[in-house]
Amino acid sequence: MVSRLIVVSNRVAVPEPGRKVAAGGLAVAVNAALKHRTGVWFGWSGNVVDEPADTPTTFERDRVTYSVIDLSNADFQEYYNGFANRVLWPILHYRVDLAEFSRMELTGYFRVNENFADQISKILRPDDVVWVHDYHMMPLARYLRARGHENKIGFFLHIPMPPPDLIQALPRHADIVGALADYDLVGFQTESDRDNFGRYLSSQGALMSRDGFTYDFNGRLVRIATFPVSIETSSFAKTARRSARSTFVREVTDSLAGRRLMIGVDRLDYSKGILHRMEAFERFLRDYPDKRSQVTYLQITPKSRADIPEYASMDQQVSALAGRINGEFGEASGVPMRYVNRTYSRTALAGLYRSARVALVTPLRDGMNLVAKEYVAAQDPEDPGVLILSQFAGALGELGQGALVVNPHEGEGVAAAINRALDMPLDERKARHKLMYEVIERYDIDRWAETFLFALGETRQRLKIFGNLRAMFSL
Ligand code: F6P
Repeated sequence: MVSRLIVVSNRVAVPEPGRKVAAGGLAVAVNAALKHRTGVWFGWSGNVVDEPADTPTTFERDRVTYSVIDLSNADFQEYYNGFANRVLWPILHYRVDLAEFSRMELTGYFRVNENFADQISKILRPDDVVWVHDYHMMPLARYLRARGHENKIGFFLHIPMPPPDLIQALPRHADIVGALADYDLVGFQTESDRDNFGRYLSSQGALMSRDGFTYDFNGRLVRIATFPVSIETSSFAKTARRSARSTFVREVTDSLAGRRLMIGVDRLDYSKGILHRMEAFERFLRDYPDKRSQVTYLQITPKSRADIPEYASMDQQVSALAGRINGEFGEASGVPMRYVNRTYSRTALAGLYRSARVALVTPLRDGMNLVAKEYVAAQDPEDPGVLILSQFAGALGELGQGALVVNPHEGEGVAAAINRALDMPLDERKARHKLMYEVIERYDIDRWAETFLFALGETRQRLKIFGNLRAMFSL
């Protein structure tokens, strides 16, 4: 029987008839992993109901079974809104100050992970390979192991992993972050994320291999590695070429009345640095008055996790700041910034990216940031725009040579980078773009998925070598 790939993530992009396939970063990544495989994608349906059914709802498409369960209201509040997004999300984004811990929510997090393990356990065959995604599901392998499954199980963290001191601010960290050692392979976006986790394991008494990538933690062997997540580079570039000629994008560019477009696209989230960025734009308008009439800044910000107080208050702050900027610098004939809380299709965004002379990607902390990669992929290589990139985005490792790199906390520097981007001569724009495009063309989302699954496939072999060596040394 062919071995299957079982993917597990909080959200599942179910391709229902008549419904557009969700195209967030995680969804595109998982679709790439399942593309030429027989598999199952298991997770939350996105629905919250009074009494969730005990069996998942399934949909078949090509060789993939989409299997989803509903959450109860308590699960949604405690696991998703509570522990995952009010404790793990801020701590893993270095914002311990925002973490709101409660034991009841932690219990909810463990309960949902156990329920996922029970459901997966019912369908798991011995030779299935399991790939778990993101911070919602950190202890899942531990529960699967407890149910007797010795399958190859890999985990990929889409968001950052902070240094050990911050991880230790998490109550019961050994049962959450430490539980990652129950996977065979744990993948991270950047070397710094990987090394932070390695140092955390060492701080908890794990034994490390010579190369620093294999650990023995409480009797389980785990390998750690980096796999920077990517995009469908060539198809995104094609979509952008087409979309830039669409009526929608033409209407936007016509409305600019000769000004250049500067774009930012982020979920409404404090990790994205939207407030800092807007303040930097305000500073740019103040410090470079001759440039005011040359640029319009479009900030597209779909609202997210709206039930969580930090997100609701940020919503108000960002709207107020957009109003203040336009109040102070706007004219009856036009305003310097457009702030839009809408979700645009991937196609529409691709066309907007291609039409934008500058992209502002300035998170305070971000696992990767695929907007940066999509912006690069969307450009016309003969007349590309300029990427302004935060030093705290995971994408820095691959795009840092071609982008204008900024510290998002230093508004003056971001304002100067905007000014420089607007003045940048064509030759320099082309050279910088080429450096970045070559990287994402070589390492696209298919390569990412193949590299991870290949590494997971051979991990047991490597772990065995490490186990044997360790046994020899202790003799
Ligand atoms: O990787 C970041 C992530 O949390 C994904 O897991 C998720 O799909 C995305 O951001 C959007 O967040 P949410 O599912 O909470 O809307």
